[in-house]
Amino acid sequence: MKTSSIALLVLLFHTILSLSATFATPTSFHENFLQCLSLHSDPSIPIYSPNSSSYESILQFSVRNRRFSTPTTPKPELIITALDESHVQAAVICSRKHGLHLITRSGGHDYEGLSYVSDVPFVIVDLLNLQSISVDAKKGTAWVQAGATIGQLYHNIAVKSRTYGFPAGICPTVGIGGHFGGGGYGALLRKYGLAADNIVDARLVNVDGKILDRKSMGEDLFWAIRGGGGASFGIVLSYKINLVHVPPVVTVFTFNKNLEEGATALVERWQYVADKLPQDLFLTILINVVNSTQRGERTVQASFRALFLGVVDKLIPIMEQRFPELGLTHDNCTEMSWIQSVLYFAGFPINSSSDVLVDRTPANYLVTASFKAKSDYVTEPISQTGLEGIWKMLLEENIPGLIFSPYGGRMSEISESAIPFPHRVGNIYDIHYSVAWIEKGLKASKEHIGWIRRLYRYVTPYVSKFPRSAYLNYRDLDLGQSKNGTASYSEAKEWGIKYFKNNFDRLVKVKSKVDPDNFFRNEQSIPTIPSWGKKN
Ligand SMILES: Cc1cc2nc3c(=O)[nH]c(=O)nc-3n(C[C@H](O)[C@H](O)[C@H](O)COP(=O)(O)OP(=O)(O)OC[C@H]3O[C@@H](n4cnc5c(N)ncnc54)[C@H](O)[C@@H]3O)c2cc1C
Ligand SMILES: *[C@@H]1O[C@H](CO)[C@@H](O)[C@H](O)[C@H]1NC(C)=O
Ligand SMILES: *[C@@H]1O[C@H](CO)[C@@H](O)[C@H](O)[C@H]1NC(C)=O
Ligand SMILES: *[C@@H]1O[C@H](CO)[C@@H](O)[C@H](O)[C@H]1NC(C)=O
Ligand SMILES: *[C@@H]1O[C@H](CO)[C@@H](O)[C@H](O)[C@H]1NC(C)=O
Ligand SMILES: *[C@@H]1O[C@H](CO)[C@@H](O)[C@H](O)[C@H]1NC(C)=O
Repeated sequence: MKTSSIALLVLLFHTILSLSATFATPTSFHENFLQCLSLHSDPSIPIYSPNSSSYESILQFSVRNRRFSTPTTPKPELIITALDESHVQAAVICSRKHGLHLITRSGGHDYEGLSYVSDVPFVIVDLLNLQSISVDAKKGTAWVQAGATIGQLYHNIAVKSRTYGFPAGICPTVGIGGHFGGGGYGALLRKYGLAADNIVDARLVNVDGKILDRKSMGEDLFWAIRGGGGASFGIVLSYKINLVHVPPVVTVFTFNKNLEEGATALVERWQYVADKLPQDLFLTILINVVNSTQRGERTVQASFRALFLGVVDKLIPIMEQRFPELGLTHDNCTEMSWIQSVLYFAGFPINSSSDVLVDRTPANYLVTASFKAKSDYVTEPISQTGLEGIWKMLLEENIPGLIFSPYGGRMSEISESAIPFPHRVGNIYDIHYSVAWIEKGLKASKEHIGWIRRLYRYVTPYVSKFPRSAYLNYRDLDLGQSKNGTASYSEAKEWGIKYFKNNFDRLVKVKSKVDPDNFFRNEQSIPTIPSWGKKN
C-alpha cells in the first residue's frame, strides 16, 4: 500500500504541475489545497482523488455497512491516508485554510457512515496506516494509535502477557479512534467499565493543526474526548491506556433456548439477575430468529453467553444460587485463556492463533449486508407480555437481532459525569436492535428501516424516559441530525441529551472553547455557543 500510494502521489503532483504549467490561470481549489499540503508536510503524503485508480478500493476498504456504498452515496473529493502525524496536521491546516469539510475515519464502523459520508462536499483523512501499538507489560500500560483495531490491540497485549487484558468491544475489526472516543465496551464491562474509563493520556491534533497531549490540552478537553465522540473536538492520533488484570483461566458458555423451550421466562428472569451478579461474571443475551428443528418453522432464540473471570468450579455455584432456572452444568462450560475468550466471542475457533485478530478483513456480513441499528437503556424489567410483543415483531423480519448487555458492577461505581458517557447506576442493561438485509435499493432499505422504527416505537413504554437514552457508538440519525453539521444548541440537544444526559452542556462548553468556528463537525456533532467558549 505504501509504495503504490507514493507512486500515485508522484503521478498526481506531476499532473497538477503540468496542469498549472499549461494554464497559467487561477488554480482550482484542489490545486491550492494540494499545494498547501505539500507545503505543510513531506512529499510522501498519500492523496487519492476520484481519478486515482485505487481511490475506490481505499474508500471501500473500511466501509462496514453496504447501506453507504450505493451509486447515490456521496463520495469524498479526496482521501488522505496519513502515514504519520504530520500528515494529519497538514490535512487539518489545509482543509481549514481552504474551507474544506474534513472528516476522520479510523475503523469505519460508524453505524451511519459518518466517517466516510457527508451531505456536504468533504475530504477524508483516513488513519488506517496509523496502527502501531506499544505495550509496556511491566507498567501495565499501552500507547495505541487511533487507526489500529481493537483486535490488533488484544493480540498485542496477549503476545506480551497472559494476565493483562483490556475492556473494549467484541468485534475485532472495530477501530480504536471511533470506539474509544464514544465509550467502547465488551465482556469486561462489569469488571472494568468502558474502554474510555481506562484512558490515561491522548495525543490529538487540534483545530490549529497543533499536537496536544493530556497536559497541554487540559482536563476539560481530555474529558470530552473520552466518550463525547472525538469528531467534534479534533483528530485523536493515539491513546494511552491502563491495561487490566485477567486471570490465567476464564470460563465461557453459550446456552441457547428458543421460545418452545421457555426462552421468554428465562429472559424475563435474567433481568432481575444480570446486573447484580458478581463483577467477574458477564452474562449477555443475543436474540435472533432461527429455524426451529422441533416445529419446522421460524422461532425466536435467546442465546445466553457468558464470560466468567475464574474457573468453572467457581462459576457453577454462583449460577446455581443466582440463576438456577438456566440449569447450567459443567458440560455447558469451557475453560480457556482470556485471549481465547476474545476469539470465542468473535466467532473464531478458540485454538486459532490470536494472529487472526490482526486481520482487518471484516466478517462477510459486514461487506455484503446493509444494516440499521438503534439502542435503548432499560431501568425496569420488561414484563413477559412486553417481551412477547417484541418477539412477535422479530418474527416479521428476515434478519433481525437484539443484544441485551448487562450493566451494574463497575459501571454503577463510576459517576455519571466522570466522562461524557452517562449511562451508569440505575441501568439494568442496554438493548442493541438491528436489522440487516441483502437486497439492494431504496425500497428494501425503506421497508427494513420502517420495521426497526416501528419496533423502537413499540418498546417506548418499557425503556428509559426523560430522556430516552441512547449509546453514542450505536449512532442513530433518527434521534436528530443537522444536514451540514451546523445545528443550533436546541437542535443538537435533541440527540445530545439522549447520548450524554447532563454532560451535554459541558461538552458544548468545551467545544465552544476549543473549536469556536465549528471546523470539526458532522451530522450529530456538538454545537458551539460563542459566549460559552469565553467563560471558564
Ligand atoms: C460489527 C460491529 C460491532 C461492534 N461492536 C461493538 C461492541 O462490541 N462494543 C461497542 O461499544 N461498540 C461496538 N460497535 C460500535 C463501535 O464502537 C462504533 O461504531 C465505533 O465508533 C467504531 O469506531 P471506528 O473507528 O471503527 O469507526 P469510524 O467509522 O472510523 O468512526 C466513528 C466516528 O468517530 C470519528 N472518529 C474516528 N476516528 C477518529 C479519531 N481518530 N479522532 C476523532 N474522531 C474520530 C469518526 O469521524 C466518526 O464520527 C460495533 C460496531 C460494528 C459495526
Ligand atoms: C480528474 O480528472 C478530471 C478530468 O478527467 C479533471 O478535470 C480533474 O481536475 C482531475 N482531478 C484531480 C484532482 O486531479
Ligand atoms: C448443557 O449440558 C447438558 C449436559 O450436562 C446438556 O444436556 C444440555 O444440552 C446442555 N445445554 C445447552 C444449552 O447446551
Ligand atoms: C431457514 O429456512 C429457510 C427456508 O428453508 C432458509 O432459506 C433459511 O436460510 C433458513 N435460515 C436459517 C437461519 O437457517
Ligand atoms: C484446543 O487445544 C487443547 C489443547 O491442545 C485441546 O485440549 C482442546 O480440546 C482444543 N479445543 C478445541 C475446541 O479444539
Ligand atoms: C445549514 O443548514 C441549515 C438548514 O438546512 C441552513 O439554514 C444553514 O444556512 C446551513 N448552513 C450552512 C453553513 O450551510
